[in-house]
Amino acid sequence: MTDVLSKETTEFVNNFFTDKPKIAVVLGSGVKAFEDLENETKLSYNDIPNFPQSTVQGHAGVISVGKYNGQTVSVLRGRFHKYEGHNWKNVITPIALMKEMGVKVLILTNAAGGINRIYIPGDLMLIEDHINFQEVDIEERKALHEMKLEKRSIDFYDKELTKIAREASRISKVKMQEGIYLSLPGPSYETRSEVLMMRKMNVDAVGMSTVPEAIWGHSMGMRVMGISCITNSTYYENAMSETSHQEVVDVAKKASENIDRLLKTVIDNLNL
Ligand code: HPA
Repeated sequence: MTDVLSKETTEFVNNFFTDKPKIAVVLGSGVKAFEDLENETKLSYNDIPNFPQSTVQGHAGVISVGKYNGQTVSVLRGRFHKYEGHNWKNVITPIALMKEMGVKVLILTNAAGGINRIYIPGDLMLIEDHINFQEVDIEERKALHEMKLEKRSIDFYDKELTKIAREASRISKVKMQEGIYLSLPGPSYETRSEVLMMRKMNVDAVGMSTVPEAIWGHSMGMRVMGISCITNSTYYENAMSETSHQEVVDVAKKASENIDRLLKTVIDNLNL
């Protein structure tokens, strides 16, 4: 993926972080976790040459590298969405960078609306599979084609990590749903009719991110795991009249403690 990352970007970041992570965690809107890494080094996206800039409130735009329980972990606070006007290369730039740094396990988190009727705000959902409603332009499609992706039977989410996440949920006593995540292009939230459609499609949660990162992360050879933080109910009898970005950020903050505990227990149980 040399044409996604410039040589300057890779060299700068690799020189900046001397400790190389095997695990990367991308944090979604308002999701706080790994605030207590040991020997943490931080690098702002603004200071990285040729790096895209985040425009969404609740996305800080910082890479942290530090130790948790003896493992070097990279935490990305801030991601890029196509709805911000970013092209597909920008969206996967942080993912490609993690690969270059030597990451083997990529954990993607996001804020999502609950489509499944039993989900309540604050629930966590392991992404067992996804439906891609994001735009995939011709150039991105061609790049995926060149990676021979169409010839594979696709499990973007690693089965071994699923088992570890289930075990981590049991050990840490953090409730975890498992379900299907659908990624909409956004930027508006889904309409009531779209909610009804998604329910018929067996969708459990809806958001506007993660899927391109999972596809590309997997294609680059990393083991991928995804966790949605259910920030709002889209079940319209329960839903507030409007879902605001602030509401999403507020609930995500409350669920952060659970995500933090769950993901740390996942890491404790990883065999790298
Ligand atoms: N829809 C789309 N994206 C979201 C939602 C939602 O309801 N909640 C958080 N991100």
